[in-house]
Parts: sequence; C-alpha cells; structure tokens
Amino acid sequence: MFITFEGLDFSGKTTQAERAVEKLRRLVIVEGMPHLVHFLREPGGTRISERIREILLDKTNLEMAELTELLLFSASRAQVVQQVIRPALQRGDTVVCDRYCDSTTAYQGYGRQVDLGMIQAVNAAATGGTMPDLTIIVDIPVEEISRRKDLAGIPFDRMESAGRAFYERVRLGYCALAAAEPGRVVTVDGTGSIEAIEQEVWKHIERIGDTHQRKRKLTP
Ligand code: TYD
Repeated sequence: MFITFEGLDFSGKTTQAERAVEKLRRLVIVEGMPHLVHFLREPGGTRISERIREILLDKTNLEMAELTELLLFSASRAQVVQQVIRPALQRGDTVVCDRYCDSTTAYQGYGRQVDLGMIQAVNAAATGGTMPDLTIIVDIPVEEISRRKDLAGIPFDRMESAGRAFYERVRLGYCALAAAEPGRVVTVDGTGSIEAIEQEVWKHIERIGDTHQRKRKLTP
C-alpha cells in the first residue's frame, strides 16, 4: 500500500504523516502482519535525493531557473522511486511519503506556472507510473502559513520565500488534483485540532487498507 501526504508548507501534513505511520506500525505488530512500513520525505529518502534536496532548499540559490527546479525535484524522485519505493511495494511493504509528484503539479505546475503538459510528462518519467493508492491533502488557507511560521519562529527556506499569490495558486492546484482524481486524492481540513484531523485521515487509510486487502486476497 502506498500513501502520500500533500499540502502547503506549515499545513501540518508532516505531523499527520508521522501519526499515521505510528498507527500503521502498531497495527502491523498487533495483527502480526509480516510487512514493514517505510516513511520517506520528498525531496529526500536516499543519499542522492538528500543531496539534491540541499541544492533545492538552499536560500542562496536564488538564480535557480524554473526548469532546473522541476528537473531537480524530479531527479530526486526518480532516485527514491527506483531505489526505495518500488522495491518496497514489490515486497508487499507499506510506503508512506511526505510529498510526491502531486507537489510538483501543485508547486511547479500551478505555483510556478510551468506548462502542465510538461509537468505530466516529467512526473510520469520520474515515477515510472508508480502512483499512490491514497493521497491525503491537508488543506489550510494561505494566511495560516505566515501565522504558523511566526508562531514557530523559523526562517523561510528558498521555496517558502515565494509570495502569497504563489501559494494561492499552489492551493488551487491541489484543489484541481482532488477534483480530477477523487478515487485517489482526498482533502482534509487542516484547520481543526491535530486529533480531529488524525481521525479523519485514519478513516481514509482504513478504507483504502480494506480495498487493498480485498485485492490481495483476490490475487492468487
Ligand atoms: P520541506 O522543508 O520538506 O517542506 P514541507 O515540510 O512543507 O514538505 O521542503 C519542501 C519544499 O519543496 C516545500 O516548499 C515544497 C517544495 N516542493 C516542490 O516545490 N515540488 C516538489 O515536487 C516537492 C516534492 C516539494
């Protein structure tokens, strides 16, 4: 089973991903199911991908061209898909990923306004068609980003330095993805309490888990 979490910066998706992973790991122990739960973040997840991540988030790389950005995120993804995600899924493990190719559609496609046809082609190449069974978008209004950032008191990285209009477009991109693929992509309201969001997220995971198990049983 392959689950991804998506959302704007400071949406709380990482917290939700961590909680889901904890629960999935406990479930595996309780039911004694012989499979592992891998938790990855994008960009990252392999030695090469983490090095690409450093270039992408480095605040001094202000001259980075949009196409370079798209290809670097995708290069990082191609590596983690081939080295970690695909082999894990083939073994029957569960993979949870904090961001995946929908981030590229939302941030580079809608945010940076790179041609969506090109984004689709590059995403298809980087993932090689390995797509999540479930993608959870944790949705917050754009004003929440600066409020939460101020609360946390952490400086912006290169990506987070983009303006408000950029994030409005990214959010619109996520809405478009949810509308286009309702069977895979679900949206949860990220403004509620952490526990309430966690419960909603878990309902979606249970639903997909059931379908997944039924499918496995049907496969001889
Ligand atoms: P990170 O510090 O991991 O932020 P977050 O906790 O919000 O995931 O930085 C990842 C940044 O890279 C984030 O601003 C989103 C951006 N990003 C893209 O623009 N395109 C992509 O394909 C991916 C995976 C991330």
